[in-house]
Amino acid sequence: MKFLTSLCLIASLATIAWASSAAWGRRNSTDYLLLRENVVRTPLKNNYWSVNVQFPKSGQVNKRVITAIFVYDRFTNSSGAFPSLWSGGPNLTYATVNLKSQVSRGINSTVEIYGR
Ligand SMILES: *[C@@H]1O[C@H](CO)[C@@H](O)[C@H](O)[C@H]1NC(C)=O
Ligand SMILES: *[C@@H]1O[C@H](CO)[C@@H](O)[C@H](O)[C@H]1NC(C)=O
Ligand SMILES: *[C@@H]1O[C@H](CO)[C@@H](O)[C@H](O)[C@H]1NC(C)=O
Ligand SMILES: *[C@@H]1O[C@H](CO)[C@@H](O)[C@H](O)[C@H]1NC(C)=O
Repeated sequence: MKFLTSLCLIASLATIAWASSAAWGRRNSTDYLLLRENVVRTPLKNNYWSVNVQFPKSGQVNKRVITAIFVYDRFTNSSGAFPSLWSGGPNLTYATVNLKSQVSRGINSTVEIYGR
């Protein structure tokens, strides 16, 4: 029984860690940093933020192939926004990362995109 309880605890901790930070693709040491964006939002009472981070920015052109995308949650205390890859990503030249905050929680996340 105790084993089961700790197993559940580990599983939920893993879920929390997975929920607010994310990585897609694989970064090579020679890859270039194409974009680093800090997304900071103050909490909305009884509502949540849904923020899209677009790469490349409108009006800009990117010819490098994306190798990896990282999202770091700066809250680190389980209040972080949930990142998902809405379009593009590794092997492509564009990406849209969505950050969905928890209700009544803000966002303090950093999105990094690497490419070659
Ligand atoms: C990383 O980049 C170097 C230099 O371009 C290349 O020789 C190496 O094969 C690459 N490694 C991977 C895992 O893509
Ligand atoms: C976001 O997180 C960073 C790193 O922990 C911190 O330095 C910064 O003050 C935070 N910003 C806000 C608005 O909370
Ligand atoms: C997590 O940290 C942020 C920023 O420091 C804070 O606003 C938020 O209330 C914290 N969440 C919890 C559950 O403690
Ligand atoms: C990217 O392309 C390489 C080589 O074609 C393939 O091995 C890899 O699985 C692809 N990765 C993704 C995320 O599609």
